[in-house]
Amino acid sequence: MNFSLTEEHLMIQKAARDFAQNECKPGVIERDEQQKYPTEQVKKMGELGFLGMMVDPKYGGSGLDTVSYVLAMEEISKVDASCSVIMSVNNSLVCWGIETFGTEAQKQKYLPRLATGEIIGAFCLSEPEAGSDATQQRTTAVDMGDYYLLNGTKNWITNGGTCSVYLVIAQTDVEKRHRGINAFIVEKDWDGVVVGAKENKLGIRASDTHSILFNDVKVPKENRIGEDGFGFKFAMKTLDGGRIGIAAQALGIASGAYELALGYSKERKAFGKPISKHQAIQFKLADMATEIEAARLLCLKAAHLKDQHEDYSTASAMAKVFCSEVAMKTATEAVQVHGGYGFVKEYHVERLMRDAKITQIYEGTSEIQRIVISRNLLR
Ligand code: CAA
Repeated sequence: MNFSLTEEHLMIQKAARDFAQNECKPGVIERDEQQKYPTEQVKKMGELGFLGMMVDPKYGGSGLDTVSYVLAMEEISKVDASCSVIMSVNNSLVCWGIETFGTEAQKQKYLPRLATGEIIGAFCLSEPEAGSDATQQRTTAVDMGDYYLLNGTKNWITNGGTCSVYLVIAQTDVEKRHRGINAFIVEKDWDGVVVGAKENKLGIRASDTHSILFNDVKVPKENRIGEDGFGFKFAMKTLDGGRIGIAAQALGIASGAYELALGYSKERKAFGKPISKHQAIQFKLADMATEIEAARLLCLKAAHLKDQHEDYSTASAMAKVFCSEVAMKTATEAVQVHGGYGFVKEYHVERLMRDAKITQIYEGTSEIQRIVISRNLLR
């Protein structure tokens, strides 16, 4: 067993750290406050290869492994979880979904622009009445011969207003239940695609989250992903990998909050000495560091299994549930270490605490991860 990162991994980690510190940190508070999309940062992520990290270079990607992706996600999430969710959805849901299950023509048409950030993608599974229970799709895709007619509404779509391409999950044959669901690549500028209201969120406020309406959208047959009826499995398999990205995001939020608390504890004095000299703070720091290390190991193990082409469904759900709980707990404790300063925006930890919450909700709530884990254990 080898716990060391390779030279290449260390290089990618450093590149992501530099990018986060130099390009994401300036203005992160204002972008959060004003819900301002990080246009410049997303452009730069594309140029640096962070938007198609695992995509084969022949389709314009960086051709890296999932471990590299986790390392980059952690560094960027330490500073700006809005940037990292945009990165996560584009990499592990959209690019991975198309590259793994798409036709050669679909890969050639969409991947080079997605992997370089020329365009961004979004993943449309959740609906007003189908969040956790993803089999209950109300969006319909009626087979009209050489095209499908798509109708319905999707909710909580990350990148919904800024993307150019949606992966849409829809019901084609109700009788067949989840085996009658399909996945499609839909372009935003097609007739009948309407971007709904932007959500005013608690956290990851600089990322744009919208409802998307599909009104009689004609989707060409060649834009269906996989065999007829593959859509539900496509979504589940894609989310298995997506959960590694969100676990890495949560890990980054936790380690970012911890680093801020550690630094602050050495500067802030109380009762005649730095608060880091008080055992009450030392124990908090010890717990944070221990839990973050455990979270990192789970996250890297899930990434490693994926890279080895082994089953990673349980590992990714475990990583996601554990990392997101550590993120919430660590960020809350980091605010506590900062005292009153933790409650104001300049010190960054209140934002990390707000951002942490969504990691327990999207790409499957903590409850859903426990369902996935326990089903796999009991199978
Ligand atoms: N891989 C492959 N196949 C899978 C699978 C997986 N991980 N999980 C389930 N399946 C298959 C099953 O084998 C089964 O197939 P058969 O009928 O052919 O045997 C089929 O799918 C149905 O499975 P279940 O009976 O287990 O389905 P279920 O409805 O009881 O439970 C669930 C499934 C795990 C609860 C699932 O609905 C789920 O994961 N829900 C959460 C959805 C989610 O994560 N939503 C997040 C939205 S995306 C998002 O947040 C993106 C963003 O913008 C950030």
